[in-house]
Amino acid sequence: MLLEKILQSQGFGSRKKCQNLIQRGLVKVNGELCDQLKIQFDPQNLELQVGEQVCRYREQVYIALNKPQGYECSHQAQYHFSVFELFPEYLRERGIQTVGRLDQDTTGLILLTDDGKFLQALTHPKRHVDKEYWLATADPITPEQIQALEQGVELRNEKGIFQATQLQQTSEYELRMTIHQGVYHQVKRMLAAVGNKVIELHRHRVGQFALPEELKHGEWIYLTPEQVELATVRTKD
Ligand code: URA
Repeated sequence: MLLEKILQSQGFGSRKKCQNLIQRGLVKVNGELCDQLKIQFDPQNLELQVGEQVCRYREQVYIALNKPQGYECSHQAQYHFSVFELFPEYLRERGIQTVGRLDQDTTGLILLTDDGKFLQALTHPKRHVDKEYWLATADPITPEQIQALEQGVELRNEKGIFQATQLQQTSEYELRMTIHQGVYHQVKRMLAAVGNKVIELHRHRVGQFALPEELKHGEWIYLTPEQVELATVRTKD
């Protein structure tokens, strides 16, 4: 594959812009300067350096971000920062999208990808994947509230019943719970439906993939194919 095409596929701009980067001597391949056009490479496992930015060739990208508070999952964030500001331009240029959304004040695990098919499959309403949340409430959590969440609650303007599983109360005001759907503000609305209020919300796990402990707020990693598999494990009925 031509180097300029490889660079273009990785988000470094139009073919013309990539040719220009090469001719200006700004591109290294596997650590060696490459300022000639028309050179072909096998892109697999190629390490690219463009100016100061180093990246490995990836056909598609699958990313896990530990989302900080105050970031919206939209490109044109209105009142807060955008999660896309946390990524280098070449990844934004590849058109990465979040898999679903977290509220601006929710922290924790969010997946991003530029694989449209993967995104569609995972966000399909019929595809149920576990999502584990850790939350803090304004009022003490009662056994009745736990029971009601387990049994399922109705949410205004939504069809069906919304149940939580794997409930674990970790203190008077703290709860861990897993949900399977992903409707707007689901966790906050479920807690409101049982008479409480979420004041802190953190997503810990998607499918069987838990947020790696070492990933600080605002940090992200590329997922390995095994981690992608884990994150897409469907909910068991
Ligand atoms: N449920 C919510 O209420 N907010 C989120 O960000 C995610 C799930």
